[in-house]
Amino acid sequence: MRFLVTLIFILTSLEVSANKLPLPLDDSDYRSVNENEAKLGQLLFYDPILSGNKEVACATCHHPSLGTGDGLSLSLGDGGKGLGNKRIVDYENLPEQRVPRNAQPLFNLGAKQFKTLFHDGRVQVDLSRPSGLRTPLEEEMVKGFNSIISAQTMFPVLSADEMAGHYSENEISEAVRRGTLTGKGGAWDLISKRVQAIPEYSDFFTDTYDHIKTAQDIKFTDISNAVAAFMEFEWRSDTSPFDDFLQGRFDLSISQEKGMELFYGKANCSSCHAGALFTDHQFHATGQPQVGPGKAARFQSHSRDLGRFRVTGNIKDKYAFRTPSLRNVELTGPWGHAGAYNELEAFLSAHIDPYLALANYDKSNVTLTKYDTNDWKIMDDASEVKAIADSITIKPVMISEGEVTDLLAFLGTLTDTRAQKGRLGIPETVPSGLKIPNPQ
Ligand code: HEC
Ligand code: HEC
Repeated sequence: MRFLVTLIFILTSLEVSANKLPLPLDDSDYRSVNENEAKLGQLLFYDPILSGNKEVACATCHHPSLGTGDGLSLSLGDGGKGLGNKRIVDYENLPEQRVPRNAQPLFNLGAKQFKTLFHDGRVQVDLSRPSGLRTPLEEEMVKGFNSIISAQTMFPVLSADEMAGHYSENEISEAVRRGTLTGKGGAWDLISKRVQAIPEYSDFFTDTYDHIKTAQDIKFTDISNAVAAFMEFEWRSDTSPFDDFLQGRFDLSISQEKGMELFYGKANCSSCHAGALFTDHQFHATGQPQVGPGKAARFQSHSRDLGRFRVTGNIKDKYAFRTPSLRNVELTGPWGHAGAYNELEAFLSAHIDPYLALANYDKSNVTLTKYDTNDWKIMDDASEVKAIADSITIKPVMISEGEVTDLLAFLGTLTDTRAQKGRLGIPETVPSGLKIPNPQ
């Protein structure tokens, strides 16, 4: 009898999770990509030509060998040298500051369900606006971006600490300082001129796009469309063991299966990490520790990062951040919007019991480039830590250490070696002749 009850219990709990399991992803979930456009975008993505001082490429912070991130808690853009945890401060060109947030992974951004980008969702599809997008540029936002990720590409190039450089150092950072971004003589225009002047690029653009007849026709929107096509093509990730499992081609180990049961059951992970991309695309306050300079507005001076609140001004969005997709999550550390944990197990233990974790946070959990700056203004201030704790909306769950191990085993089934390598890979050289960021 006891056996029967247990059996029925196991069967019903398996059934519950079967109902919650997502449908497998297929081509219809993704925008179609023109491979030539992706090949052009590949060169631009790895080419430091898009940065003011010609030293930082997109790949500096989004490198395939580092899970399409940079392996650091917080990135160091212009003013840094080297890659990943070998990145050091360039004392002849000191950085403005650390980049305030952890570099996000770039997997599956060609999936149609991504309509909100960045940790705080400040770039968002919004059909009520003329450009079809809500972005920090508001009225200045131009038309001509093929997709939301294409529109995203314009932001890193305009940011002094990411790619543009110090205000007086080069023509692009000067244009950013003057606030001339999108118009003639603005930052994008200047970047386009650099690309136009390189024959290999102008030929590639005229061959790829019907509306581009001569080099002068290349606009920044064309550059960002190509870069977006590359990211979409390169890092589509729907060939992990979990995808094989959904299609009946892979058997989970006992621990992976237990982890899956927890994920869709008692641990309630799937209420936020929902669907085949493991995100509800919503914002939640999970009590992540705050590291680094934070995101104050120009007229403020504090080190807080209020997350979604900065975009909406709605009190309930304080300290809320976008639910990240968990695809390839094993590869994408450090974890959390400020990279406060460099071990996935430590992140998870904190995520399921955030109040305790916040109160006992250990600063050795970060991986930061050595740089003479105070990264701990918030965590050293009890009232700031309390404000983060008071905003938490995620419910703590009671699970054992063994169950955390099972959850990790399940998350491991999301690692997709094909997507990790990418489809086109890292080019040998780029048309500008500049140095491609690569691990030493
Ligand atoms: C100095 C480091 C750095 C550089 C250089 C950089 N990024 Fe990023 N990237 C980041 C960080 C940090 C974030 C998260 C920012 C935030 O949420 O406020 C991010 C976010 C993104 C996202 C959003 C992903 C998502 O899921 O919402 C995309 C797409 C992206 N970057 C692409 C690019 C492209 C394309 C380039 C080159 C034009 C580039 N990045 C250059 C650090 C960098
Ligand atoms: C209430 C919604 C919610 C629930 C429930 C939830 N998460 Fe999260 N998760 C988030 C948000 C939001 C973040 C990003 C937090 C931040 O960076 O500030 C996150 C981050 C993560 C990350 C780090 C990803 C990265 O790239 O940095 C992992 C791993 C993770 N969650 C796994 C889980 C697991 C496993 C469970 C179940 C035990 C779970 N989550 C339950 C909302 C949730």
